[in-house]
Amino acid sequence: MPLSKDFLWGGAIAANQAEGAYKEDGKGMALVDVLPAGQERREALFNPEVALKTEYNYYPSHDSIDFYHNYKADIKLFAEMGFKVFRTSISWPRIFPNGDETEPNQKGLEFYDNLFDECKKYDIEPLVTLNHFDTPLYLIEEYGGWRNRKLVDFYERYAKVVLNRYKNKVKYWLTFNEINMLLHIPFFGGGLVIREDENADQVKYQAAHHQLVASSLATKAAKEINGEDFMIGCMLAAAEIYPYTCHPDDLLKSVKENQKQYFFIDVQSRGEYPSYANRLFRELDVEIEMEPEDKVLLKTYPVDFISFSYYSSRLTSADPEVNKQATSGNAFKSLKNPYLESSDWGWQIDPVGLRVTMNQMYDRYQKPLFIVENGLGAVDELTEDNTVEDDYRIEYMREHLKEMIEAVDDGVDLLGYTSWGCIDIVSAGTGEMKKRYGFIYVDLDNEGNGTGKRYKKKSFNWYKKVIESNGETL
Ligand code: BG6
Repeated sequence: MPLSKDFLWGGAIAANQAEGAYKEDGKGMALVDVLPAGQERREALFNPEVALKTEYNYYPSHDSIDFYHNYKADIKLFAEMGFKVFRTSISWPRIFPNGDETEPNQKGLEFYDNLFDECKKYDIEPLVTLNHFDTPLYLIEEYGGWRNRKLVDFYERYAKVVLNRYKNKVKYWLTFNEINMLLHIPFFGGGLVIREDENADQVKYQAAHHQLVASSLATKAAKEINGEDFMIGCMLAAAEIYPYTCHPDDLLKSVKENQKQYFFIDVQSRGEYPSYANRLFRELDVEIEMEPEDKVLLKTYPVDFISFSYYSSRLTSADPEVNKQATSGNAFKSLKNPYLESSDWGWQIDPVGLRVTMNQMYDRYQKPLFIVENGLGAVDELTEDNTVEDDYRIEYMREHLKEMIEAVDDGVDLLGYTSWGCIDIVSAGTGEMKKRYGFIYVDLDNEGNGTGKRYKKKSFNWYKKVIESNGETL
């Protein structure tokens, strides 16, 4: 078995999809707190200007699964499965309600003290994302989100506060969740509201530059605070983009599309803009405004490890006519791959693609990888004896874990695996509760009705055995 005995098995959630308590103990509004559920959410995400002015009937993030009040019982269940690591995020507006204050909100800090202590009680290592789709709303309304360089300073202040505060409790940190999301859903990733008369690429890549600088500043702060005891990672929504056919033009197109996603990690890991960026920016008519010190900063403070989410591979063609058939199950458009099946939400299922992606990334960066999201969003039915027979989820995970282990055998250095939504949470893309990923069922529906009670699914015991056997029993 190629997995080391220290392999970090666990699960992942994010504050904005789990905590609820959206105004409690001084928390400010996050961008996600103005987003509705269902079809309206899709529209809001792609037309945030309208969304910001609209009153919706229901906002799923306001209560979510109320992890804020249930974290002790939930972590106990994670411990029962044998988690060695638990990934969550700190809600930035819980610490700095508007984002531009000089003093943090003590109540917010105390909450995460308690949360991380609870993890430690069970020897669970927290893995903490600093910004997961919840930039403070005020920074968007007053400053224009990440298009404004001032956000770099606000983020740096926030990062310094939490890195300092939790230096003895948290070792693994991620600076931005799915940093490439900025290109696909700019409101989610960067709090960006882009006007029709603007060059959208200019706005997105300028905001990306600000996040890349902010990420390096957080890494710098981390190294100054805790030296090598901290491990700082970047995080990519990863998926190998395959060529539609073996026509050389299709292959070239896939190479170019892959470069666009790796762009972020190329900077965060290698510490400089990649050589292909010059041409890309020229073609997109993008000019990045940089401060004189930026290049040295990026070079001096690259990340220690590379984390990523993986749900499916994608497919692209050089022929615009063919590409018109691309659909988006989520943020990413893809052609239909005839060799793959899809989930209830149209996400194409490709376990081998995980092995391919891991090999590509490790070849490219030669730094440890960490799979911090993977899983199946599906419709679950609670049975009369209060469980869910989720064999489909077990099957999905089993196949992915097999390929993960193969990739490690290929020589990839992998720190750990945290399955996404280890307890059912609100879906980021659709705002639905019905799209469930968890080993633990939460009794709430799409409108937030239900008892909120937690029930173990069949996959709960299955995953427990996987962890117990360090991946031998799948
Ligand atoms: C990733 C995000 O994009 O995918 C998560 O980091 C998200 O926040 C996950 O929940 C699954 O997407 P969805 O839309 O099914 O919740």
